[in-house]
Amino acid sequence: MSRPVALVTGASSGVGRACALGLAERGFDLAVAARRSDELDALARQLGDSCRVMIRCVDLHDPEETARVVPEVVDEFGRLDVLLNIAGIFDIAPLHEMSLGSLQRTLAINTIAPAILVREAWAALAAAPRGVVLNMSSLASIDPFPGAGAYGISKSAIEGLTRSVHVESLAAEAGIEAYSLAAGCIDTPMLRSVLGDIELPAGAEIPMDQFVGIAMDCIEGRRPEARGLPLFVVRDGFATLDSEEALEAIRVLWKA
Ligand SMILES: NC(=O)c1ccc[n+]([C@@H]2O[C@H](COP(=O)([O-])OP(=O)(O)OC[C@H]3O[C@@H](n4cnc5c(N)ncnc54)[C@H](OP(=O)(O)O)[C@@H]3O)[C@@H](O)[C@H]2O)c1
Repeated sequence: MSRPVALVTGASSGVGRACALGLAERGFDLAVAARRSDELDALARQLGDSCRVMIRCVDLHDPEETARVVPEVVDEFGRLDVLLNIAGIFDIAPLHEMSLGSLQRTLAINTIAPAILVREAWAALAAAPRGVVLNMSSLASIDPFPGAGAYGISKSAIEGLTRSVHVESLAAEAGIEAYSLAAGCIDTPMLRSVLGDIELPAGAEIPMDQFVGIAMDCIEGRRPEARGLPLFVVRDGFATLDSEEALEAIRVLWKA
C-alpha cells in the first residue's frame, strides 16, 4: 500500500515548513507549495530520502494556477489524504486606509485559494482512508486588533470554509475531516514583520513544535472535538474551542 500524501501550502517558510517536516516524520509523502523555489528546494534537501517530495511553485493569488495544483499532485502520487492550507499574507492597515487591492489580495490568498484547493481536492480526499483539511486561521478572527481588518476578515472566512467542509462532508458521507487552527503568536517572518518593535508578553509565544504537535493531533484524529470548529491556540500551553474563554485569555495576556 502507498504512503499517505499531504499537500502543504506555505511550505517555504514558518508554520507551513514546520508542518511539512512534521508530516514527513509521520510517514507522509509530500507536495509542497509556495512561490519561492529556492526555499522549497532547501526543504526538499532537508527531507532527503525520508519521503517523496513534489515541489510545486505557485502564486496562490492566481485562481487558475491554484486550481491546477491538486490535479498535478494526484497525477504524481495517485492519491491525496491531507490538505494543509497554511500559506497566508498579512497587510497591516486601519480600515479607513485599507486599499481595495490589499483587501482583494488578502482574500485571494488567505481565503479564496484555500477554497479552490478544497474544491479540487474533494474527490481525492473523499476517496482517501482518512481525508483531512486543515486550515490556518488566527486569533485575529475573534480579536482583530487595529490594523488587522482585512486579515481578520480573511481568517473569519477560512473558519467559515472549515465549517462548510465539515457540514457538507457529513451530509455527503464523504468522510472528510475539517479543522481550523486559530493561532496566536508563533515566531515566523510574518509575525516579526507584523510586530515590529512590539515586545511579546511572557508566555505569548507558542513554541513551533507545540503548534505542529496540535496540527498533527488533528491530522491523526486525536482532536475529534475540534472537527468543523476553530481551535483557538492562544498562548504557550493553552488552546480552547470556547471563543469567550479565548478572548478572556487574550485580555489577560495582553492586559487589555
Ligand atoms: N506566525 C504567527 O504568529 C501566525 C499566527 C496566526 C496565524 N498565522 C498564519 O500562519 C500561516 C503561515 O504564516 P507564517 O507565520 O508561517 O508566515 P511566513 O513564514 O511568512 O509564511 C507565509 C507562507 O505563505 C506563503 N505565501 C504567501 N503569499 C503567497 C502566494 N501569493 N502564493 C503562494 N504562497 C504564498 C509564503 O511562501 P512564498 O513567499 O514562498 O510564496 C510562505 O510560505 C498564515 O496563514 C498566517 O496567517 C501565523
